[in-house]
Amino acid sequence: HDPSSSRNFSEIRGGTEGAAKLPAAAMPGEPGSVDGAHQAPSSDFVPKCDIIGKDALSALHRAGSQQCRQEIANIVCQHQAGQLMPDTLPQFCPQLGVSNPVQAVGELDNSLSKVENPVRVAFVLMVHGRAVRQLKRLMKAIYHRDHYYYIHVDKRSSYMHREVLQIAQQYPNIRATPWRMVTIWGGASLLKAYLRSMQDLLSMLDWKWDFFINLSATDFPTRTNDELVAFLSQHRNKNFLKSHGRENARFIKKQGLDRLFHECDIHMWRLGERSIPEGLEVSGGSDWFALTRRFVEYVINSQDDLVSGLKQFYSYALLPAESFFHTVLGNSHMCDSLVDNNLRVTNWNRKLGCKCQYKHIVDWCGCSPNDFKPQDLIRIQQLTRPTFFARKFESTVNQEAIEILDTHLYGQYAPGTIAIKAYWESLFEQSDGVGSLSDVALTAYTSFFRLGLKSLVTTQSNMESCRFEPVGFPLSVHVYFYDDRFQGYLVRQEVQAVGSKVKETVEMWAVPQATLVLEKNLKEFERLKSLEIGTEWDPKERIFRNFGGVVGPLDEPLAVQKWARGPNLTATIVWIDPALVVAASYDITVDLDAEYTQYKPPLQRPLRPGSWTVRVLKQWERVAEVHFLVMPLTFKDKEPLRIEEDSWLHAGPPGNLYLEQSFQQMSTVLKLPPQEPAMQAAQRNAQLVGQALDEWVDSGVAAFWVIGNLCTTQTSSCPALAACSKTSWSSLSPDPKSEMGPVKSDGRIR
Ligand code: UDX
Repeated sequence: HDPSSSRNFSEIRGGTEGAAKLPAAAMPGEPGSVDGAHQAPSSDFVPKCDIIGKDALSALHRAGSQQCRQEIANIVCQHQAGQLMPDTLPQFCPQLGVSNPVQAVGELDNSLSKVENPVRVAFVLMVHGRAVRQLKRLMKAIYHRDHYYYIHVDKRSSYMHREVLQIAQQYPNIRATPWRMVTIWGGASLLKAYLRSMQDLLSMLDWKWDFFINLSATDFPTRTNDELVAFLSQHRNKNFLKSHGRENARFIKKQGLDRLFHECDIHMWRLGERSIPEGLEVSGGSDWFALTRRFVEYVINSQDDLVSGLKQFYSYALLPAESFFHTVLGNSHMCDSLVDNNLRVTNWNRKLGCKCQYKHIVDWCGCSPNDFKPQDLIRIQQLTRPTFFARKFESTVNQEAIEILDTHLYGQYAPGTIAIKAYWESLFEQSDGVGSLSDVALTAYTSFFRLGLKSLVTTQSNMESCRFEPVGFPLSVHVYFYDDRFQGYLVRQEVQAVGSKVKETVEMWAVPQATLVLEKNLKEFERLKSLEIGTEWDPKERIFRNFGGVVGPLDEPLAVQKWARGPNLTATIVWIDPALVVAASYDITVDLDAEYTQYKPPLQRPLRPGSWTVRVLKQWERVAEVHFLVMPLTFKDKEPLRIEEDSWLHAGPPGNLYLEQSFQQMSTVLKLPPQEPAMQAAQRNAQLVGQALDEWVDSGVAAFWVIGNLCTTQTSSCPALAACSKTSWSSLSPDPKSEMGPVKSDGRIR
């Protein structure tokens, strides 16, 4: 696939560590392509020149804000005038291209006792998202009294930031950056954030560090702190950066370094071509590194043409941190300090990780490494170069891999330590504001909670002191995992006793129910292992990120089938709505080694709320069936649903037609019951508001979820409510593996 010869011009970034060429290409109209290039961009900005490039015109057409369009126009004009990029840059390296080998692991002398003046590391953590407990576990594993930890939290991750500030309060050598940026994937802002962190670290005179190491919240150490310190102390003048190890021209092309990019409106816009400055060698590879203080000082303080020119060049580069430091170092007078090893193991699986999944963020196709699972850990041992960290790890995907490493490094937690196999991740906190929730999420959480309170009354045989009503909105919502399996949602909210009006706080656990039915004697369809419907499908990890599959009328659900190896086959997939409208029918062909098949029928919305059915058919015979709930909404824009204005949301699509074509004639062969009663019920339900609507929602939710249990944060008037702090599933129960705790006499926490 030669991008330049293809009309749907789309770049594929193979990444750096053994990339493969990809078949994927952006479709016309998608951000990866330059569709729309020939339409006139809106004219609310003033270009200082005649903009002609198709990439620039496309970006101007797609960019959302006036400010961003103006920036793009200015940059393109400067570039067209030859004033933006340096033409030539100096080269100070006497022996260009030489990269030092470094001791193999076998020779790694890791006894710290022999080390004089052990090095101190400044760790810079670039974090985002909500995986706070994993971050704490990482911090716990890498913490040492003698190191320093400087944490940048993506400006959009407020919850994470609040938690990081709390961590930083407890330890003098952990700080959060007082400034924050929106550090989008692959964006120029990531390099800016690194440079600013470096500048800060150099100006903190009380932090006497020797090495700079960057980490993300999805990293985990693979060697002990002593081993790291011993190693770096023996190589205290080396800079550790990993290179792509291929032909340089190819790297530049794949990386898009010969393209001009600009970041604005939370997007990296591709604006056209550019030349690589003459006179020096551009290199790069991975954006994870370990750098000496001396090199960091050079990068931050030098005013020479090399550093200032490259800062300019990389301000307009995609994935700049993958190449800026390599190129500065490789062409500097310090080039002989370069070691071609970033001291990390990255779990690349290009087949899964290069699906052009960032095209809504960058005008390019980027790759990501996969999360480690226990079977991948062998990769850490297989490497002959010394490595100290691995990525990526995600506790919602697999926590066992972290557990194995953590135990390997620092031993098992004492027998009987609780919550080792449990993982909690916050979805919502009161401080996030209800505005941050979608209407369907708010509907689901409040329904779970009502069902929880109802179940309490039933199980406590109507005991008066166990009758509560919910107050306000949820205080917190978590997803809860045990043994790497999703266990459900935990919703915490204030309640008041119906009689006494006394308030307390209760947490409840909603557990999803499986609905898959596989027929017997499937012959070649024995291959079918599962059939799931959901949203936020992650093609890299092959999971739905919307754990539990809370889906509303305005969502776009996708059906995924999982297959074992077996004979080629063709299956028909049929979607049936709650009013027995056959919404969609399509065939999928399954090759012998296919593991997953997936399809998102482009259904007209709103989807009719209620219980949907998806069937897998073999020549019209049902081989599998699954149900999923399209949740009716009790909220529209976080306000209770109103009868007149909002009832369209529950009425199904116009003309009961989900796709251009009707599939209703299939209802006979599908042996569906008469449609009339179902349609009438659906129409009645569509008119519900207030309490009746709540009840309809709750009856739907109750068909797909059961209430696991409830607990209370204080002592409750209801004797059935145990203290959350002593309830193993509760997000308020202890989680020693993620609690950072006091610094021990050896300087560590773990
Ligand atoms: C991987 C590789 O690690 C990297 O070397 C390669 O260049 C791109 O692919 P990936 O897993 O895709 O990284 O990126 P991710 O870890 O999600 O993000 C990289 C860094 O940017 C992290 O420190 C992350 O916390 C930060 N980031 C990412 C944000 O701050 N906000 C975001 O929205 C996304």
